[in-house]
Amino acid sequence: MKTKLLLLSCLLMATSLAAQPKLNEKNIPEVVKAMSPREKALLVVGFNNACEGYSPGLPGTAGLTHPFPQYGIPSVVMMDGPVGVRLEDRFTTCFPTGLLVAASWDRETAARVGRGIGQETLDMGGDVILAPGMNLLRNPLNGRNFEYFSEDPLLSGSIAAAYINGVQETGIGTSAKHFAANNQETNRLDGDARMDTRTLRELYTRGFEICLRESAPWTVMASYNYLNGEYTQESYGLLTGILRKDFGYEGLVVTDWTGKRNTPLQLHAGSNLLMGGTYSQTEHILASLEDGSLAMEDLDFAATKVLELVTKSVSFRKKDFKAPLKTDLEAHAALARATAAEGMVLLKNEGALPLSPSKVALFGVYSYDLLPGGNGAAFVNCPYVVQVNEALKGAGFSTDPGLEKLYKGYAAFAEADLTLNHKVNVHVGRPQKPELEITRSLLERVEKEADVAVITLGRVSGEARDRILGKDFLLQEEEVNLLENVCELFHAAGKKVVVVLNVCGVVETASWKDLPDAILCAWLPGEEGGNAIADVLTGRVNPSGRLPMTFPLDYFDIAGAEDFPYNFVSEKANESAVHPERRGMDPKNISYTDYTEGIYVGYRHFVTRGQAVSYPFGFGLSYTTFAYSRPTVKLSGQRVTASITVTNTGAVAGKEAVGIYVHAPLGSFAHKPERELRAFGKTRLLQPGESQVVECSFPLRDLASYNEALSRWETAKGSYTVYFGANCQAPAASLPLKLSKGKNYTSKR
Ligand code: GLC
Repeated sequence: MKTKLLLLSCLLMATSLAAQPKLNEKNIPEVVKAMSPREKALLVVGFNNACEGYSPGLPGTAGLTHPFPQYGIPSVVMMDGPVGVRLEDRFTTCFPTGLLVAASWDRETAARVGRGIGQETLDMGGDVILAPGMNLLRNPLNGRNFEYFSEDPLLSGSIAAAYINGVQETGIGTSAKHFAANNQETNRLDGDARMDTRTLRELYTRGFEICLRESAPWTVMASYNYLNGEYTQESYGLLTGILRKDFGYEGLVVTDWTGKRNTPLQLHAGSNLLMGGTYSQTEHILASLEDGSLAMEDLDFAATKVLELVTKSVSFRKKDFKAPLKTDLEAHAALARATAAEGMVLLKNEGALPLSPSKVALFGVYSYDLLPGGNGAAFVNCPYVVQVNEALKGAGFSTDPGLEKLYKGYAAFAEADLTLNHKVNVHVGRPQKPELEITRSLLERVEKEADVAVITLGRVSGEARDRILGKDFLLQEEEVNLLENVCELFHAAGKKVVVVLNVCGVVETASWKDLPDAILCAWLPGEEGGNAIADVLTGRVNPSGRLPMTFPLDYFDIAGAEDFPYNFVSEKANESAVHPERRGMDPKNISYTDYTEGIYVGYRHFVTRGQAVSYPFGFGLSYTTFAYSRPTVKLSGQRVTASITVTNTGAVAGKEAVGIYVHAPLGSFAHKPERELRAFGKTRLLQPGESQVVECSFPLRDLASYNEALSRWETAKGSYTVYFGANCQAPAASLPLKLSKGKNYTSKR
């Protein structure tokens, strides 16, 4: 009897298994139909069994989806992050961070980094890299600015799209994040970003809109924060109204790594995959189906989106992929080096650069302990970091062994001190080391034996906390003393001083930039950063980076400067949420942040106000000079095409980035920014005397402003001015453009 029962149950199991459809690209509705509510509830919530041993993802994998072998559904493996694959137990290439990639003003540079990271994700068994981070740089103190791209939505969106296309060419998916208005880390889980609709549309969703016009990221990540009183992950207006209906997005929306919130509301709003995933969310889905607070169609839509993602994934399409090639890490290191040099910005050069091999006095702890990247989800286990001192020695310079011994010993001490005494959680990455005081007598001895001085100043930041004004944005006393003393001694001896900024974003420069002879902004340049810095300092690479954001004279010159937690120091390291007991204590900029500046972020504020800055958006020097000639602008149909001839009028080869800014008449609007970036391009490497026509075209509707009363974009009839040049404050040429009539556009693209 027992045998018969056993046979019968095996037969039933076999038939039911046989009855279950095996997933393919064409039968997703059938599979969704065949899955039970519990199976669907598991599918749309991150697979938390990973902790129970089964996990196709390597240690450090950010998230997985639930596998269903019975339907031929594998886990989709999602890994961080924007500057390289973040894994706990192995090295991967640490590429330069987002700011530097954007500072290249070059889509191909972004695409090359994307391809490199895609390839390494493939090698590591991943399906999706959770990148690019592309939130707007609303305020220079946001802890994650280093991962992002720009204060301008066009530069952000276009660089993001190029990166996405690069990654997805390798068969790996991406995640455009964090949608939307995740512009501070303080209380990032529960802070409410409050802004008017025009600001949201023209700035904070605009970069994503442009990105989705130029690429098709497999996923978009819904951010942690509130937006105007709603969690973005629960906002139907944002995730379905704007993202899907207006932007036409057809991929999957994955939540940032929250725990259980209002699960049915998330699914109804358009969050399709709830990451990192807890069983309580799965149970909440089933209970919500029972009590009617969740419609099966919302669950089915989410399940459909997850299965669409599955069918794109390498894990599903393994058969289409040759065994992943072992990434050529040397080639990727060379790519990281070339990229880093492409995005560095030369801010000042008065007869100091390029340097010829000589005896260099290298000051600053970060000359010996370079910051390759930032912290948190974008942290990468570098196989190595090329230090400035090593790279300069490799380039034929001799350095001061005494200084080297002193700084290396100090760097090791500082790291131990921070880790042991100050309990800095190195999981989130590299601690910020205070600068070392150098005695006058040592300075005098070193100066006598050196031909030139180089000082590297560093700033690192990361996820879950913002930078603060006093001890981060401003130079510290020991840094200022070092700068002043080195400049005094070396200048007295007729020798040059060069400052290298190894920084996670904007720092104060106005108060000290007159001291050194040259300033190179090297950002967080990845594992090959030292070599790239040496390449630029020696002229092996002529710098062609342009600032993707404004360096103000003073922090409080920034519009909305007071509407940011610029001095909020959380007691606990890495505290991201303000704990309930603090909530009432300091609500402004913590529990909520008013975007009082509206659309006037960065150059939109400074140029419109005619306010001086330390270094403007789009600024950057070269070792050569360029002339602009023969500007043209034409309107054909619904597209504007602008072109300009760029000629290298100097003595060395170089590249020039070109921005196209447009001034629009007010039309029915009470105010508009004086000018806005509408297109950009970059020349190839031009030899001395060589010219290139840089031509950019963009949709006429990009000249529109958002009329929130009528929920539509509007271009005004009248006279426009088209400016040519990357530097927003000093265009190299301009031409008029007349629109004989204005045009209204629905909010749909
Ligand atoms: C983090 C970050 C996000 C990251 C995700 C997975 O909290 O906000 O950028 O991709 O969780 O680690």
